[in-house]
Amino acid sequence: MVQSLTIAAFAALTSVAAAARCQNLTIPISVSARNGVFNQTNPTNAIEATNFALRMSRQGHNYTQESLTGYNTVSGNYQIAATYCEPDAGPGKVVQVLTHGIGFDRSYWDFSYNNYNYSYVREAVDHYGYSTFAFDRLGIGMSTHFTDPINEGQIWIEVAALRYLTQGLRASSIPGISAKFQKIVHVGHSFGSSQTYALTAADPSISDGLVLTGFSQNGSFASQFILGSNFIIANTVPALSSYVTGYLAPQSAVGVQIDFFAPNSFDPQLLQVAYQNGQPVTPGEIMTLVGASAKPNPVAKPVLVITGEHDTPYCGGDCLATGNASLPSIPAASRMFLPNAAPFQAFIVPGSGHGLNFEYSHPTTYGTILNFLAQNGLAAK
Ligand SMILES: *[C@@H]1O[C@H](CO)[C@@H](O)[C@H](O)[C@H]1NC(C)=O
Ligand SMILES: *[C@@H]1O[C@H](CO)[C@@H](O)[C@H](O)[C@H]1NC(C)=O
Ligand SMILES: *[C@@H]1O[C@H](CO)[C@@H](O)[C@H](O)[C@H]1NC(C)=O
Ligand SMILES: *[C@@H]1O[C@H](CO)[C@@H](O)[C@H](O)[C@H]1NC(C)=O
Ligand SMILES: *[C@@H]1O[C@H](CO)[C@@H](O)[C@H](O)[C@H]1NC(C)=O
Ligand SMILES: *[C@@H]1O[C@H](CO)[C@@H](O)[C@H](O)[C@H]1NC(C)=O
Repeated sequence: MVQSLTIAAFAALTSVAAAARCQNLTIPISVSARNGVFNQTNPTNAIEATNFALRMSRQGHNYTQESLTGYNTVSGNYQIAATYCEPDAGPGKVVQVLTHGIGFDRSYWDFSYNNYNYSYVREAVDHYGYSTFAFDRLGIGMSTHFTDPINEGQIWIEVAALRYLTQGLRASSIPGISAKFQKIVHVGHSFGSSQTYALTAADPSISDGLVLTGFSQNGSFASQFILGSNFIIANTVPALSSYVTGYLAPQSAVGVQIDFFAPNSFDPQLLQVAYQNGQPVTPGEIMTLVGASAKPNPVAKPVLVITGEHDTPYCGGDCLATGNASLPSIPAASRMFLPNAAPFQAFIVPGSGHGLNFEYSHPTTYGTILNFLAQNGLAAK
């Protein structure tokens, strides 16, 4: 541990709580991806941001398809900001790769609000012995921002970054993390779940288990999220001034509530903190989000899909209203896309909205995830 202080990529080391030992890392990556080329210019003001949301949400249309003019290979050298945590006693046998969703950065997994009461990382590390690797997605937070929020900032280049980081953890080649892990589990939230899904659909042996939180493969409700966000140009919000014009962010906490919080399921003060720490989204991410999880995934590992009962973007506010007596929930339909998952489980968190980690129900969410892993050969100890 102490020797790693000399590594250039190493940013800081602190003992944060009773048991978790965490370090911040800045990891250089070199990635490329086949991105779409879209006939859509970067929105430059609130009216153009809203025009984009209206085009994306027209019923009977697929604006991604309608504005796709071709494909282009995008490549670059970037930096990823990450936080690696492990138990005081040393690294877990299993590391969890935590990919956050739209609207947040890696702090979604280790939220300091209310003395870390909402932290998934503390639960996983302190009580279950996992190592955790949470990173700011490429384009977000302290990772390199995109310079072209439409033709560069798409899910495909971010999946390439997730692949690069996973391979680095597998090979113990990430500067500052020398542990040799027996297994790697991928846990995503929302757009991070889409990336986790897309990564393993293309490369099913790269992961030893998947937890897709705040997720389904029903694209019918994405428009509620896109319209509900009430997007403006992100860099008109003082905290987001470092992003280039084209990134979008909700105009107020109202958009964050619509997208992430179910009625009576959250601490109102936390909503304000979530908004103040909120992160933007690119039009290119929004345009490529649904398509990336449209294909079947042959992964033959344990897969848990866990989504709040009142999730807006993935269930339209009611995951149990399927209109099909043999389909218990909308997320349960992912079974058909993951025919080899062993086992497959879909769990609906009662009363919760989309932002699972930030709702009063988070103990149910964390207990379900961590017990699922422990019961399916993916315990950390
Ligand atoms: C890592 O960086 C974040 C963001 O700057 C900071 O809040 C946190 O305290 C740092 N953690 C450690 C262990 O240094
Ligand atoms: C791009 O969009 C504009 C306006 O929506 C349209 O006039 C033009 O034909 C489109 N070009 C292509 C190549 O699709
Ligand atoms: C819309 O079109 C894109 C690009 O062809 C495709 O990947 C995506 O699956 C489509 N979305 C829906 C909901 O059909
Ligand atoms: C999405 O869910 C709704 C409500 O259960 C259902 O009517 C619709 O057929 C589903 N769409 C897809 C593509 O599964
Ligand atoms: C209802 O759900 C079952 C189980 O997922 C599925 O096999 C079947 O095709 C669905 N029926 C309809 C009409 O969508
Ligand atoms: C932590 O969160 C749980 C679940 O929301 C709640 O019941 C408990 O009171 C909280 N504890 C503290 C110390 O705030």
